Amino acid sequence: MIQLYLAPMHEINCLSFRLLCKKYEADVLYTPMINVKAYLNNPENFKWLGKEKPLVVQLIGSDSSDFKECVKLIKNCDYIDLNAGCPSTDNIKNGSGAALIKNLDNFKEIIKTMAKYSNIPVSVKIRLGWRKDESLKIARIAEECGAERLAVHARLFGSNYSIPANWDAIKKIKSAIKIPVIANGDIDSFDKVKECQKITNADGLMIGREAMRNPFVFKDIKNGFKNKEIINHSKEDRIKLILEFIRLYKKNEIYSNAELKNHCIWLSNGFNGAAAMRNNLGKCKDEKEIISIIKEIKK
Ligand SMILES: Cc1cc2nc3c(=O)[nH]c(=O)nc-3n(C[C@H](O)[C@H](O)[C@H](O)COP(=O)(O)O)c2cc1C
Repeated sequence: MIQLYLAPMHEINCLSFRLLCKKYEADVLYTPMINVKAYLNNPENFKWLGKEKPLVVQLIGSDSSDFKECVKLIKNCDYIDLNAGCPSTDNIKNGSGAALIKNLDNFKEIIKTMAKYSNIPVSVKIRLGWRKDESLKIARIAEECGAERLAVHARLFGSNYSIPANWDAIKKIKSAIKIPVIANGDIDSFDKVKECQKITNADGLMIGREAMRNPFVFKDIKNGFKNKEIINHSKEDRIKLILEFIRLYKKNEIYSNAELKNHCIWLSNGFNGAAAMRNNLGKCKDEKEIISIIKEIKK
């Protein structure tokens, strides 16, 4: 069965969320992007457990010497990944994220440095190109410079989510390089998995936004492969899932009301009354209020 990857998601993939996705059968988990300079300033702030393995730690930055120091320090994960796809203005301004696929010299330099100094295999996550599709060239460079796996978010730097992911581009990459290729973009169900796999022949499939609102998606896809019925999750199932997340959050994270509230809001969908519940959660001032709203809707 093809491996399912939880996509890296900034402000989403805390340890608790990764553990939740693992429980619901995601095969490989990414951290959110971690700025190399922030990591080097205080590595203690970026602890992760080994429980949620296989784990990919994703780094973002633009200075190869930062990557050199970072990869020497990072332990307890299965891959260290370079973010070469983030389109946020701040990252682009400092030459990091998707700016790396515009400036391919620095892209090469960073991957070579990571591969040289890391004891852990290096992977890269790219978009298809800056203004036009140059994904084949970018993928070949990543492989030649030492990446051992490539995840492809099948959109250009400037394409937003309203533009469909271009899975045909992933197909071309897959047939041109030898390292495993992970397809990403718009995969949200067993049907999409089958379609994407058929088009791309990818070695793994990566899910972002659907996992953020519905961590059951991994298990549903696995059930599809096992010819089991894909069930419609009841309101009770979804509420139970939110309460499960809250328990994990309290155990593993430094409490932030805004963070917990946001997770509960993202997980509140797919049942009658979800929109009203999201609205009420938005107003909560503390954990007690959050739980009482969730328990209220459960009745
Ligand atoms: C809230 C959010 C945060 C994201 N943060 C990251 C990130 O930290 N690193 C990264 O490489 N991509 C990031 N992405 C992009 C996703 O990993 C993924 O490539 C993209 O959402 C397409 O997959 P999807 O259609 O399954 O959502 C983020 C996406 C979202 C929605």
